[in-house]
Amino acid sequence: MAINLFPVTPDFVAEVGDVDLSKPLSPEDADSIQAAFLKYSVLVFPAQQLNPDQHVAFAERFGPLEVNINTYQDEVKAERIDSRISDVSNLDHENTLLPAQSRKRMSGMANRLWHTDSIFRHVPARASLLYARIVAPIGGLTEFTDMRAAWDALPESMRRQIDGHIVEHSIFHSRAKVGATVFTERERASLPPAQQVLVRTIPETGRRALYLASHAIRIMGLPEADSTRLIEDLMAHATQRQFVYSHRWRADDLVIWDNRCTMHRGTRYEEHRWKRDMHRATVSDVGNSIKAVATEPGRHPQEHE
Ligand code: OGA
Ligand code: MN
Repeated sequence: MAINLFPVTPDFVAEVGDVDLSKPLSPEDADSIQAAFLKYSVLVFPAQQLNPDQHVAFAERFGPLEVNINTYQDEVKAERIDSRISDVSNLDHENTLLPAQSRKRMSGMANRLWHTDSIFRHVPARASLLYARIVAPIGGLTEFTDMRAAWDALPESMRRQIDGHIVEHSIFHSRAKVGATVFTERERASLPPAQQVLVRTIPETGRRALYLASHAIRIMGLPEADSTRLIEDLMAHATQRQFVYSHRWRADDLVIWDNRCTMHRGTRYEEHRWKRDMHRATVSDVGNSIKAVATEPGRHPQEHE
């Protein structure tokens, strides 16, 4: 049986039915899923039963897995889940709720800020596959915003003004916004700032998208006040409700999104009260986004690394 696509919005989010991701995919289903990933940017696969190998195997259809770096690596005593998969939970290695002062829980708070995964790494993430094992009964949604639609909706003069700019990002910039400032030297050294383009082109479709996140420190070459204001204006523009889909999780949902042209954030829930256990496999992009632009004919980024 072929997969069944149920659009949730006309061109941003779709649910995918009649596919069991624990089994090898037929070539037709695999092609349909890739096409849907490019047409939409967020795909929801309900009722999946995946072990870590199956989760990783499906992720690898979108590219090589990103090597996991935990920002709180020096706190973690024992891995709770498979080391290829990011632990996006409020649980410790004995599956009990983390205490309020836990740095891992603080770090998780930064997921409430709009972001796209790993934009702060030299090679950012192409796709993330988040798998819900335990969901909070209230709150704890994940919201997604369509950065292609946000780009399309910008006035032409603004598009001309910002195209070609380079942005510097750091994970510690967004962590500081939620009060998470205590990191070891080793943790800081493992994630130095990275530069990315502000506007990117999705090579498979030619669609253009804003590429921004709460990790953005500055737009290179602009006075600090102008840079800060432009980042704030673009973030406010891109996160207007007409571009946003809010996902209410069911246990066993697997959601994949295209990090190149979306932002996402978690919403509040009572994390001292409810367990929320989410597992993320993250797929690397093909390279740094500035290099990708530099090889596109007719495009000249204003600044290089
Ligand atoms: C993530 C993330 C938000 C959430 O896993 O990358 O940002 O709602 N998650 O858990
Ligand atoms: Mn994220």
